[in-house]
Amino acid sequence: MSLEVSENQLDAIIRAAIEKHGDQRDALIPILGEINQALGYIPGEALGKIRRCINTPEEGLFLADSHLYSIASFYHMYSLKPVGRHIVRYCESAPCHVVGGRQVIQRLHDFLGLAPGETSADGRWTLFQTSCLGICSVGPVIVVDDDIYGHVTPQRVSFILAKYR
Ligand code: FES
Repeated sequence: MSLEVSENQLDAIIRAAIEKHGDQRDALIPILGEINQALGYIPGEALGKIRRCINTPEEGLFLADSHLYSIASFYHMYSLKPVGRHIVRYCESAPCHVVGGRQVIQRLHDFLGLAPGETSADGRWTLFQTSCLGICSVGPVIVVDDDIYGHVTPQRVSFILAKYR
């Protein structure tokens, strides 16, 4: 899900996330997760807003926007730019790779006409690569929104994606 968000909406989402998870530094990841869940991505302006709300009681310790950016950009499940209505993720780790993942990835790129991190011009699809999803025994694995598909073949790619049209 990708939404244009007003400043008031973003403030409300951040406030609700802080009420739920607290205002300590260890709440940063769940707060970022709440924003990503609500909007499909984490707007850049959210980082400064979160930083100003997080309690850093230790003297001499401060939180920089760059610290928040490093967290938000580290995790594959977070996006820092708006995404399409459907998010397709493919596993690029070795166990999936050796059972045909490379061909599946190529088919995804060809079918969607996207490179990892890109969103289609019509706003329908965003493609991401990700590391191991923890279900290597059913590789190659792709995830479309919250649906997980195992034993994916290049031939199945178009059938899977057709469900989301
Ligand atoms: S390597 Fe693909 S799910 Fe583990």
